[in-house]
Amino acid sequence: MSPYPKKAVGCGLWVGPQPTAHKGGKGGKQTMPGAIVGEVLVRQVTPEELPLLEAMYGSFEPKEVALGLPPRDPERRREWLKALLEGINFVGVIGQAVVGHLAIMPAGQAGELACFVHQDYRWRGVATAMGNAAVADARRRGLTWLWVLIGSDNSPARSALLNYGFHTAWESQGEMKMTFAL
Ligand SMILES: CC(C)(COP(=O)(O)OP(=O)(O)OC[C@H]1O[C@@H](n2cnc3c(N)ncnc32)[C@H](O)[C@@H]1OP(=O)(O)O)[C@@H](O)C(=O)NCCC(=O)NCCS
Repeated sequence: MSPYPKKAVGCGLWVGPQPTAHKGGKGGKQTMPGAIVGEVLVRQVTPEELPLLEAMYGSFEPKEVALGLPPRDPERRREWLKALLEGINFVGVIGQAVVGHLAIMPAGQAGELACFVHQDYRWRGVATAMGNAAVADARRRGLTWLWVLIGSDNSPARSALLNYGFHTAWESQGEMKMTFAL
């Protein structure tokens, strides 16, 4: 029996408990500075940049790959992204294209993580680069651990998380919770 409430599905970030809102950076319309790792520029993304994320997830396939995320329906997708943008958000950019998105939703000292890389840009370090930026930022904010919920059959995510240093907290009924001490 899963120790996590059943309503928290898909990386836990769709209908999970309301997190404490943390605003990334100072907001505003200016492009935020970022760090370049190899070919990937990683930077924070603000709520005003919702259209950038909508564009990436519009062509992201397959939809609903990670416990029902990203939602297939554009309206549900927009609502999901708006909720994520209340947390800490990073994008990976290659050339002019936003190719990856990582969100952390803080709740107390924990941060719940979700990470998506566009299918045309996988396995070239985008998730790792965004993860490094997010981990550094989460430490600065005083978070002490990160967690993520994935499907047990999601081997790319499982490998990426284990490779990064996450540990399996539990696995049950086709889902697993993985944690990372900051
Ligand atoms: C999981 C995901 C975010 C990885 O993104 P990525 O940018 O391709 O990952 P990276 O290139 O940084 O790779 C990190 C590690 O992941 C592992 N990995 C990545 N893709 C893999 C695959 N298809 N099969 C097995 N391992 C894989 C590798 O071990 C890799 O480390 P290495 O390069 O040292 O071998 C991406 O596959 C994805 O968006 N999947 C769909 C959404 C999802 O399931 N998100 C997770 C739940 S929120």
